[in-house]
This record gives sequence, structure tokens and C-alpha cells, in this order.
Amino acid sequence: MIQSNESEAPFKMPAPLPAMRRIGSRIELHSLVDSTNGSAFDAAAAGAPDGTVIVAEAQRAGRGRLGRRWHSPTGCNLYLSILLRGPFPRPVLTGLPFLAAVAARDAVGDVAGLIPRVKWPNDLFINDRKVGGILVEARSGGGETALAVVGIGVNVNWPNRAMPDELRATATSLESELGRPLDRPALLAALMGRFDRGYGRLRDEGAAWLIEEWSRSCLTLGRMVTVETASGPLTGLAEAVEPGGHLLLRHADGSTSRLSVDATTRLRPSGTQVPMTGATHALRD
Ligand code: BTN
Repeated sequence: MIQSNESEAPFKMPAPLPAMRRIGSRIELHSLVDSTNGSAFDAAAAGAPDGTVIVAEAQRAGRGRLGRRWHSPTGCNLYLSILLRGPFPRPVLTGLPFLAAVAARDAVGDVAGLIPRVKWPNDLFINDRKVGGILVEARSGGGETALAVVGIGVNVNWPNRAMPDELRATATSLESELGRPLDRPALLAALMGRFDRGYGRLRDEGAAWLIEEWSRSCLTLGRMVTVETASGPLTGLAEAVEPGGHLLLRHADGSTSRLSVDATTRLRPSGTQVPMTGATHALRD
């Protein structure tokens, strides 16, 4: 069911949509919301089914990771949130940000013919500039995670010159990279289809295949990175992402840290040597 009851022009859906098992059981198209993630939680409270997708042309208060703002101008980008109802086996929950990144990466590949890289934990990059981001939020009920909302934002037809000053040097859009505008409804349809197939596989098989898929196009692995954690920055070689989603970081003294997704990475210039031996030490979140 596709709902768009607004007088202002909401996001346009293409027809036909790909065949989907769970995602898109209901699709809500809005012209303007505070945050599609917030609207997805509101929809859940009002009884919206598992797989509901909320899409908006613009957001007043788009949310980014770590309490940041997600710039959400009207009519040029993709802002969507997918509502999933639990209970969730642990690998499904930890796999969701990786699934969203892989689905968005491959949907861009399908529609634009160019494949973004992923940066741990779940940013999309083209030519070292950020083109998309993912924010997964979960709510518990009765002692377990009852709801997860997977929010995805992609800069599609947003000219670099229209970006705010603080983004212009570090962000990009698909249009800027391709030199031509992209069909946003087609990208949305591809993204929902990719996410639907991946979600079925994640539930059936767990997350190992997904982490492998994700690692294939990772910008972070094999490079020196600085990770901002709650207890300060940590620098080391990004060695691997474990099935549970932790980043394994090897320090200059050979010890390692396992980092949770509540952190942000900055890539250090390459070339710095790091010894490849040493014992794993404490998990630092
Ligand atoms: C990040 O990179 O910091 C994550 C950005 C996530 C932005 C998307 S846009 C759709 C959804 N609604 C929100 O408020 N945030 C996410």
C-alpha cells in the first residue's frame, strides 16, 4: 500500500516496484517531516506493519549519527526510514547498519553504474567524499529489542555549490560525480529491493556473508585510521571487521582494540608502518 495524503508534492514513487517479501508492505510518502526516523517510530506506535517505509522530500531536523544534524534540503536527495519489528536475533540487529550500507551501495551501482565505497561503520563515499549515511535506531519493549528503524540518506541531485560551507569540501552527490541528474524514484525502488533481499538472507543465514560483502568495498580496512571514541581518539591499522560488527584496530605496539559502531573514523595518510604481531587487549568502546 502506498500512502501520500498531502497537498504539497510528496516524493513520487515509480511503478512498477520490485517484488518484495517484507519491505514496502506499506510506503508513506511525505513532502516534509522532522525526521523520517522519528516518523517511522510514530508510525510504529500507530500500528504500522513490519517493513513500512517512510520517505520524505525534505526533513526539518534530519538526524545523523552521534547527535549530528543531517542536512536535508527539498526535492534533490533521498531520505527514507525502514521500520522493522522484532524480536531480532543478535546477528540481525548488529547486521542492520552493514545491510543498509551494502543495499545502498549496490542500489547506486544498479541505477548510476558507479559503486560507492563504504567506510566503517556505515558511511558511503565516492572519491573520498561522503555521499550517504545510515542511522539505525532501536527501541526495546519487554526486555528485548522490539523495533528497529533503519534510516538512510543519500545525496543524489544536490549540487556541490548548494551545500552548506561545512560540507562543501567533504561531501558530494551522485549528480556531482556523474555529471548528470539521477532518477531518485528508481534509486529508491532499487534500494528497497536490495534491502528486502538482503534482510531475508540476514534473517536466514546470519551476518557473516554480509560482513564479507561489506568488506569488499571498504575504504577503512588496511589503512591507518584514527577512531574517535567516547574515551578519546585511538590510532592504528584497521585490520578487520568481525562478524559482530566490531572494528579490529592494531596499534603501533602490536596490541589491538575492538571498537563498537558508536565511533567515527578519520583516515590517516597511508605509509605509516605498524607491527603486525602482539596480543589482543581490552575491548574499548
Ligand atoms: C550519518 O551519517 O550521520 C547518518 C545520517 C542518516 C540520515 C538519514 S536521512 C533519513 C533518516 N532520517 C533521519 O533523520 N536520519 C536518517
